[in-house]
Amino acid sequence: MQTQATYDYSVVRQFAIMTVVWGIVGMLVGVIIAAQLVWPELNVHEFLHFGRLRPLHTNAVIFAFGGCALFATSYFVVQRTCHTNLFLPKLASFTFWGWQLVILLAAITLPLGMTSGKEYAELEWPIDILIAIVWVSYAVVFFGTIAKRKTPHIYVANWFYGAFILAVALLHIVNSAAVPVSLFKSYSAYAGVQDAMIQWWYGHNAVGFFLTAGFLGMMYYFVPKQAGRPVYSYRLSVVHFWALIFTYMWAGPHHLHYTALPDWTQSVGMVFSLILLAPSWGGMINGVMTLSGAWEKLRDDPILKFLITSLSFYGMSTFEGPMMSIKTVNALSHYTDWTIGHVHSGALGWVGMISIGSIYYLLPRLYGKTGMYSTKLITWHFWIATIGIVLYIASLWIAGVMQGLMWRDTNIDGTLKWAFVESVKASYPYWIIRLLGGTLYLGGMFIMFYNMVRTIADGRAVDAPVVAPAAAH
Ligand code: HEM
Ligand code: HEM
Repeated sequence: MQTQATYDYSVVRQFAIMTVVWGIVGMLVGVIIAAQLVWPELNVHEFLHFGRLRPLHTNAVIFAFGGCALFATSYFVVQRTCHTNLFLPKLASFTFWGWQLVILLAAITLPLGMTSGKEYAELEWPIDILIAIVWVSYAVVFFGTIAKRKTPHIYVANWFYGAFILAVALLHIVNSAAVPVSLFKSYSAYAGVQDAMIQWWYGHNAVGFFLTAGFLGMMYYFVPKQAGRPVYSYRLSVVHFWALIFTYMWAGPHHLHYTALPDWTQSVGMVFSLILLAPSWGGMINGVMTLSGAWEKLRDDPILKFLITSLSFYGMSTFEGPMMSIKTVNALSHYTDWTIGHVHSGALGWVGMISIGSIYYLLPRLYGKTGMYSTKLITWHFWIATIGIVLYIASLWIAGVMQGLMWRDTNIDGTLKWAFVESVKASYPYWIIRLLGGTLYLGGMFIMFYNMVRTIADGRAVDAPVVAPAAAH
C-alpha cells in the first residue's frame, strides 16, 4: 500500500508557537523599558538596567518574534506553493533548535553586558558564528525545496522570502566580521567611519530585508488566501520586487546624516530613500487592491483586518521614512522620539500585525481545525492592538517634534533656551501614554496566547497531504 506524501508541518508548528511566546517576552521587556523611562527607580539591578534591557528588547522582538514568524510562514508557504514537502526536514528541525539556542544565548549574554556595541548586531562572535550556521542551513532547506518544486514557476512570495534569506546572510557575515580578544569580547574588523558606514548599511537593510522583504513574502501569500482573491497584479509584483531590493541597498547613510560620513554619501542615501517610497507604495497598493471586489469581507473577518491594517501602517511608515531621510527634516527628527515613533509604526503596525494575522491563519490549519477557538477574541485582539499602536505613535510624534524644537530653540543672544533635562521633563506625559499603548499591545498578545492554547487543546497536529500542482494551493 502506498502512503500519500504529506507536507512537513511540524517545524512550522514549532516556529508558529514560539512566535507568540517570544512576542510576549520581547514586548514585555519593551513595556519594562518604557516604564523605566517614566520611573528611573525601576533600574533595580545592573543586569536589569535600561541599557542592558533595551538591546534585549530589540533582539527579542526582531529576531525572536519576527524571526520565528518568518521561519514558520516561509516553511509553510514554500511547501504549499511548490507543491512538495521540505528538502531535508531534519535540517529544518536543526534550524528550529539552533535559532532557539541563539535566542537563549542572547537572553543570557545581553543582560550580562556582553555586547559588540553594534545596534541590532550586539551578539558576540561565538553566537554570530552559530547564527551564520543556522542561516546557511535555512537557505539550504528553503532553496532546496524550491529546487524540487513541482510547478514550473516560482510564486512571488518565495522571491521575497528568498531575497530576505540571501540578503540577511550577506549582511550578517559582512557586518559581524570581528577580531576576537576573548570568548566574550571582540572588536569590529573595520575602523572609524567605514565601521559606521558598514554598520548602517547592515542596519538599514536589516529593516529592508529582515523587517520588510520577508514580511512582504507573507503579504503575497496570506492576503490573497484570506481574501479568497488572486493577487491584484503579478506584473506589479515583479516590478515591486526588483525595484525594492535594488533601492534598499543604497539608503543606509540616512542613519548618519550630519556625521563624519562624507557629505555626498549622505546625499546619495537621502535620494535613494526618497526613491524607495515608490516601490514601497507599489507593494502596499498591490496588497490592498487584492481585496478589490471583496471589501465587505473586512467587516467581519478580524484576520483580514489584521492583514490589511498592517499594510496601512506599512504605507504610513514608508511615507514617513523617506520624509525623515530629507536632511533638513532629519536635523529636527534625529535623536528624538520621532524616530522611536517611526520605528514602532513599522514594528507594531506592519511587522507585528502581518505576523499576527498570518499566525492566526496558520494555527487552525496546523491543528486540523476550521478556525481559531474564538473569532471574537481575535476581534478583541485587533482593536486593543490598534488602539495601542495609535497611542504609542501619536504620543511619540508629539514628544519627538517637541524635543527637536526645544533643542534648537535659542535666546536672542544665541544661547540655548532650554537645558536638555527640561526636554526630558516635558516628555514624561507622552512617555506615560506610550507605556499605556505598549501595555495594550502586549495585552493583545496575551489574548492571542490564550486563543492559541485553546485551539491547540481542541485540535491535533495534522500534516496535510501534498496537493498536485493542477489543484489550488
Ligand atoms: C509592547 C510593545 C512594545 C513596547 C512597549 C516597546 C517599547 C520600546 C521602548 C521603550 C524602546 C526604547 C526607546 C528609547 O530608547 O527611547 C524601544 C525600542 C525599540 N523597539 Fe520596541 N516596543 C514594543 C514592541 C516592539 C516590536 C514588536 C518591535 C519590532 C518588531 C520593536 C522594535 C524596537 C526597535 C527596533 C527599537 C530601537 C529603536 C531605535 O533605536 O531607534 N518594538 N521599544
Ligand atoms: C521607505 C522606507 C523607509 C525609509 C526611507 C526609512 C527611513 C528612516 C530614517 C530616515 C530613519 C531615521 C534615522 C535617524 O535619524 O537616525 C529611520 C529609522 C528607523 N527606521 Fe525607517 N524608514 C523606512 C521604513 C521603515 C520600516 C517599514 C521600518 C520597520 C519595519 C523601519 C524601521 C526603522 C528603524 C528600526 C529605525 C531606527 C534605527 C536606529 O536608529 O536604531 N523603517 N528610518
